[in-house]
Amino acid sequence: MASARTLQAVILAGGQGTRLRPLTLERAKPVVPLLNRPLLAYQLALLRAHGVSDVVLACSYRVDDVRAALGDAEHLGVRLRYVVELEPLGTGGGVRNASDLVSGSLFVLNGDILTDADLTAMRRLHETSGSRTTIFLQPVPDPRQYGLVEADESGRLLGFREKPTLDEEITTNTINAGIYLIDAPLLARIPRGRESSIEREFFPALIEDGIPCYGWSPTAYWRDIGTPSAYRAAQLDLLHGRAGMPLTPAGECRDGSWIAGGGAVAPEAQIVAPSVVGAGAALGRRCRVGPGAVIGDGSRIGPDACVEGAILWERVEVGAGAVLQDCIVGANVRIGAYARVGPEVVLESGAVVPEHATLAG
Ligand code: GTP
Repeated sequence: MASARTLQAVILAGGQGTRLRPLTLERAKPVVPLLNRPLLAYQLALLRAHGVSDVVLACSYRVDDVRAALGDAEHLGVRLRYVVELEPLGTGGGVRNASDLVSGSLFVLNGDILTDADLTAMRRLHETSGSRTTIFLQPVPDPRQYGLVEADESGRLLGFREKPTLDEEITTNTINAGIYLIDAPLLARIPRGRESSIEREFFPALIEDGIPCYGWSPTAYWRDIGTPSAYRAAQLDLLHGRAGMPLTPAGECRDGSWIAGGGAVAPEAQIVAPSVVGAGAALGRRCRVGPGAVIGDGSRIGPDACVEGAILWERVEVGAGAVLQDCIVGANVRIGAYARVGPEVVLESGAVVPEHATLAG
């Protein structure tokens, strides 16, 4: 257990990420790359910026990916520990499984959220309101796919409604944003060693038992990276500076694009901002990368190829004259010369696209 003054967080990182398949068949969602950095690196940097230096990752699925991507996170200025579930315990059981390592008021975060929210302000509200559990609430245009949260005028929570389907059930547009501040002793209410849901079981029971719980509604950038389109959109948001993240892409910023170096850019190759070119990437003659392109480390873009609005993971080979538009390409994919890969296409790692093929979403 950490000392009373060390601020702590638990990150839920054990889901299978079914909506983000096929990308998550090959890599756990919490460490899919965003501008060539693992998603959780952004959360850890945000936590660090708000004084949290001790983080426990509640893991279950593809734990080795998470360890390989983050290690002990010393480079991010936090101490990172892993607690592994033998069987997935859900969002409630996952936090409970990590509860022996935490004390005080701790942040609990879903590992698939990208936000620049002012967590210091969240803590202030938690302390001044006498809240024992504070939930970050986010307004969204269409709340149907999320859990709705109802609060009174003072912000005290009144109830939850999980993924409503009927119009009359949609009584608010604020949703549970997947970031909480919880007084650690309350975690003892979650049963140990069995699957449970923090949203559907733990929070509703707190409210039913009259324990003060408050909502916190900041004006902040927030996105849930659960689907391929949200995953790509989040990177365009980062590229366009729509989120104030304490973490920038690796390398040097030149004319609005980030270039990590160690690769080769042919003299006539064009990098159109905003874009990111990973370490060791090679750009061939007369190719055009961007706007809105992310080229993974060690990828190679052939001569006359065009990559626009597309996210490429590591070591992708793009043949001469190929065109990639608004798509997502997993690691080690080979795209043949003059192939066309269109909007919404998601290519799983290792896929091979023949020369002159056309793939549409
Ligand atoms: P989908 O399958 O696409 O819904 O994604 P998911 O598996 O990530 O589920 P969901 O988005 O509902 O999960 C919210 C957060 O809880 C994510 O950060 C998950 O990694 C995490 N999570 C979900 N299930 C478990 C679990 O059984 N154990 C742990 N430790 N974390 C979990």
